[in-house]
Amino acid sequence: MIEKIKQKALAGEGISREEILFVLSCSDRESLKEIFSAAYAVKLREVGRKVHLRGLVEISNICTKNCFYCGIRRGNSAVSRYALSQEEILECARLTQKFEYGSLVLQAGERCDAAFVDFIEDTLRKIKALPGFELGITLSLGEQSLETYKRWFAAGAHRYLLRIETSSEKLYRELHPADHLLSERKACLDRLRDAGYMVGTGVMSGLPGQTLESLADDIEFFRRQKVDMIGMGPYITHHATPLGEKYPDYPSDLSLGLKMIAATRLALRNVNIASTTALQTLAPDGREQGLLAGANVIMPNVGDLVHRKDYLLYENKPGTDENAADTRKNLERAIAAIGEEIEYNTWGDPTFFSAGKESRQRKGM
Ligand code: 5AD
Ligand code: SF4
Repeated sequence: MIEKIKQKALAGEGISREEILFVLSCSDRESLKEIFSAAYAVKLREVGRKVHLRGLVEISNICTKNCFYCGIRRGNSAVSRYALSQEEILECARLTQKFEYGSLVLQAGERCDAAFVDFIEDTLRKIKALPGFELGITLSLGEQSLETYKRWFAAGAHRYLLRIETSSEKLYRELHPADHLLSERKACLDRLRDAGYMVGTGVMSGLPGQTLESLADDIEFFRRQKVDMIGMGPYITHHATPLGEKYPDYPSDLSLGLKMIAATRLALRNVNIASTTALQTLAPDGREQGLLAGANVIMPNVGDLVHRKDYLLYENKPGTDENAADTRKNLERAIAAIGEEIEYNTWGDPTFFSAGKESRQRKGM
């Protein structure tokens, strides 16, 4: 099976569901090494050796939802809630320009009220109007109406991240209250495409009740959806959540997170794949390991340290005491140490997006 996977990697062909399952279930060290290096070869050929950075701003931890696994869920009254002012967000955007990251991600808990929608729209226009290098803007602000997505797109955002968390209906229901619907989340991905965004999605791996077959289905879902970006990470227990209370000692699985990256790279090839903070939580060099398994995007936090400890989706999240300037220095060093280089001052869109857009246009979509 490994030989077949390597052959396909060389030939520029995506691996099958059966091969994805083989990658996800592999536990032999030597075989894993071969798999990661095949995924790395595909990454080099399809998207190159350069790492794209996106400055991450956690603009607010106020959330109207109540996902059973997440530390900032509405029901967690121990969280001290905050929302950055527009000036604070603009300051983060200026810092992103100064660091030459080229691109910015605005992330928050989910809110759909008119004041919030207006605030984001206005803030986007102001970020786009900043003097100097024009930042690419990615939003990660949850489920919204088509109208809202369109307004934010018109105001300057061009990418949107919305993880489906799992493609399994059954598991999705176990992880969320009854009014959180996977069908609605999937409909949002369609809405985002209709509004013109480059769309990113992703899942958590190693969740209680999740099988390898279900993860293979997740990758098949990414492939069917023709998504442009993938952000995935291992599930990490937060004890003040229903899932954390039910499974207090549930082990996190770094290796499975890396195998998901490798399998996704081998199956989808020319997409942007993020090496996420959750990997770094499980090992100090977790994000570098993610890059070596096939990821090519890192989202360093550019927010002020004051609020970091209030944005704990899971416990032991790293970087709560490292300021944005130190993060930049440390990242540069870590990336150079694995023989890669940061691509500064670009929006860092994958070739797939433009190709996908053309094919959508051809189909008259
Ligand atoms: N462990 C890992 N990832 C988590 N997320 C939320 N809670 C956890 C957790 N306990 C992820 C979800 C969400 C993203 C913002 O953070 O995938 O989409
Ligand atoms: Fe809110 Fe996102 Fe956490 Fe769910 S995962 S509770 S939507 S911040």
